[in-house]
Amino acid sequence: MNRMEAIQHRRSVRSFDGTGLSPEDQQQLLAFAEQQTNPYGLPIHWRLLNAGEHGLSSPVIVGTELYIAGKMRRAPHAEEAFGYSFEQVVLFAETLGFGTTWIAGTMNRAAFERAMELSAGEVMPCVSPLGRPAKRMSLRETMMRKGVKADSRLPFEELFFDASFDKPLTEAAAGPLLAALNAVRLAPSAVNKQPWRCVCREGRVHFYEKRSKGYVSEDGWDLQKVDLGIALCHFELAARECGLKPSFELRDPALPNREQLQYVASWRVE
Ligand SMILES: Cc1cc2nc3c(=O)[nH]c(=O)nc-3n(C[C@H](O)[C@H](O)[C@H](O)COP(=O)(O)O)c2cc1C
Repeated sequence: MNRMEAIQHRRSVRSFDGTGLSPEDQQQLLAFAEQQTNPYGLPIHWRLLNAGEHGLSSPVIVGTELYIAGKMRRAPHAEEAFGYSFEQVVLFAETLGFGTTWIAGTMNRAAFERAMELSAGEVMPCVSPLGRPAKRMSLRETMMRKGVKADSRLPFEELFFDASFDKPLTEAAAGPLLAALNAVRLAPSAVNKQPWRCVCREGRVHFYEKRSKGYVSEDGWDLQKVDLGIALCHFELAARECGLKPSFELRDPALPNREQLQYVASWRVE
């Protein structure tokens, strides 16, 4: 399975079969995570955590004791950087046949943060269980997926725009960007809100955040910017697999928009 197939095949897995990962598989995943960089150059420290050993739990996860978590220093763009790097790990796990679920909320966070030895000035944005997917989903998982319409995504024309926010981009007009934009569309996001909006203009794809209420915490942490980091990751991986050469830019093109979307970053595509 290549990365594009992993993007297409991935779904959140909350029910696992209990078989666990061999020490070699665990080592391979951790080593991969530790090698990851992100366009913002912000380092992330990774740990594999055993639920029994550290008293960790998530009410939505059954059938595995193993979690992966990352922590980093708080800094501008930490959210996007974390989203980008963690998704690389999620997709790598998928290529090895392991299930994951991004978890920011449904966990005993204090216990996870203790297990990560989080210090002042650091943040542990999300964790994920790791294991082999069970043959059948738990009832709770089935209900959760229905609740957030996890199997569907917003229409292409609602997410992507042609040169300005006034003109929706159709799949037919997307040309060589079609596969990479479809990869963005498939990305996971908190509560499946899909906050990314993209304008394709003059050889660049500009990523914006459409904020929903309630995702920015009192200390300024914006969970939906993690989603944007995931979208940036999907775009780059898919574009590279199509033979394009994306390069990262942080330069707001100051495009007018009526919805007060926030500029996040751009990929220049050759
Ligand atoms: C940043 C982020 C945080 C998330 N937090 C949770 C969570 O706390 N609990 C949970 O069950 N799922 C969580 N999810 C998973 C989303 O609900 C899921 O990705 C979305 O519904 C789409 O479904 P899919 O991943 O199966 O495509 C989170 C996803 C992201 C990207």
